[in-house]
Amino acid sequence: MTDPRLAGLVQTLPDLRLLTDPADLEHYGRDWTRRWTPAPLAVALPSSVAQVQAIVRWARGAGVAIVPSGGRTGLSGGAVAANGELVVSLERMNRVLGFDPVDRTLTVQAGTPLEAVQNAARERGLAYPVDFAARGSCSIGGNIATNAGGIRVIRYGNTREWVAGLKLVDGRGELLDVGRGLVKNSSGYDLRHLTVASEGTLGIIVEATLRLADPPPPTSVMLLALPDFEALMQVFSTLRARLRLEAFEFLTDRALHHVVAHGAQPPFAETYPFYVVTEFAAGEAEEAAALEAFEHCVGEGWVVDGVISQSEAQAAQLWRLREGITESVARYVPYKNDVSVRISAMPAFLAETQALLAREYPHFDVVWFGHIGDGNLHINVLKPDDMAQDAFVADCERVTRLLAGALQRHGGSISAEHGIGLVKKPYLSSTRSAAEIEVMRGIRRVLDPDGLMNPGKLFDP
Ligand code: FAD
Ligand code: MLT
Ligand code: ZN
Repeated sequence: MTDPRLAGLVQTLPDLRLLTDPADLEHYGRDWTRRWTPAPLAVALPSSVAQVQAIVRWARGAGVAIVPSGGRTGLSGGAVAANGELVVSLERMNRVLGFDPVDRTLTVQAGTPLEAVQNAARERGLAYPVDFAARGSCSIGGNIATNAGGIRVIRYGNTREWVAGLKLVDGRGELLDVGRGLVKNSSGYDLRHLTVASEGTLGIIVEATLRLADPPPPTSVMLLALPDFEALMQVFSTLRARLRLEAFEFLTDRALHHVVAHGAQPPFAETYPFYVVTEFAAGEAEEAAALEAFEHCVGEGWVVDGVISQSEAQAAQLWRLREGITESVARYVPYKNDVSVRISAMPAFLAETQALLAREYPHFDVVWFGHIGDGNLHINVLKPDDMAQDAFVADCERVTRLLAGALQRHGGSISAEHGIGLVKKPYLSSTRSAAEIEVMRGIRRVLDPDGLMNPGKLFDP
């Protein structure tokens, strides 16, 4: 036990699991961004709501900042602890607490991994439809704190839609039980929705009651090759009108290059500029409709090649081409942009952004992919091996300012689903007005009067 301040915490909670080993501090002090040097004071691993409340009350007295921590798969630096904070990891609070078949809700501790929630729902004959590649590692608390999206938003919406209630230990150590699973509740401000996407700045989510959906229909997966960006939106409109889409995702040739270099099977003998991975409800009629839609797109020149999955294994293989991108580029410590515009604004925004990035990034490997059906683009700029990280980030930030300007003109958002965290903090004002940010600061002051909950994230105090 190195820091004398921790003695008070140990005295208050002798049973609390507390880590101070340098390897643990490094492990729990960073997320997937890998940009900041982890330097937390210690890591607390509470096992109950009462312990979380006691930790927050101790932190207030001791003036120690807290970083709430889930699976640390975040891509915006929200869970980074680089300034002597106490990391409060929810990983030991990972149990399913209850299932209500009438309400069709599942109540879980906030550290429960997304995949465990999906499995628990499936075992009960229902589905938890939020889904993305980090499912095995990310936590429900982190998903709520970022309003995570993923690959099925086009049909099921973001995490926000599925939170029927939650318990939050706020920055004063108070336990707020909000939403309580009610379908209808017009009794004032919705503190549940305020907590969604709060990125740990209002308190620590300790429990969530999640709505469950009907099990999904049997589906097929189709991979399409496209000649240009313009074709993307045409193919999207065509398929959305003719099929029940469960997902509509895109990637560029550079994205495919990295996934294949990382071990995925190349889908076609040739390479093409753009690809779409789409999943749709399957059956005899749907397969026929899909084939017709495919032929229509080929006839129009929007699609130049394609394959439809014939088995679950083949569907998984096609999905790997899309879901494997993040891991395949991780070694380049990419600078990630996660932007959104209204779907109707997408064609104009795409054209402007494509021209902007071609002009500004002739020297970098730029990997585009994302949830095009939701108006959400991921633009990853890969760091050249021989470039210092500081110089690389400085150049990317220069271009992000230009991108933020384009987003402002098109009414978009600088963070579609990853959160603002540290990475996008300088650009918050491109998405939120000064008046809005002032209201957010005010809300934070009420729930976290000492500014100890994840300080420096989202906006500066
Ligand atoms: P962390 O990274 O631990 O934390 C994220 C933020 O939430 C931090 O600000 C943290 O302080 C806060 N937080 C965590 N737990 C709590 C809690 N209990 N109470 C209060 N605040 C808390 N995201 C998407 O939206 N869509 C995707 O498709 C997607 N795909 C991904 C694929 C890969 C391979 C990876 C690595 C990441 C992906 N992500 C995606 C990003 C990430 O998985 C999500 O943001 C996820 O919701 C983070 O959950 P986490 O538990 O890892 O949170
Ligand atoms: C994705 O859609 O794959 C994720 O948001 C992860 C990423 O952007 O790298
Ligand atoms: Zn995404």
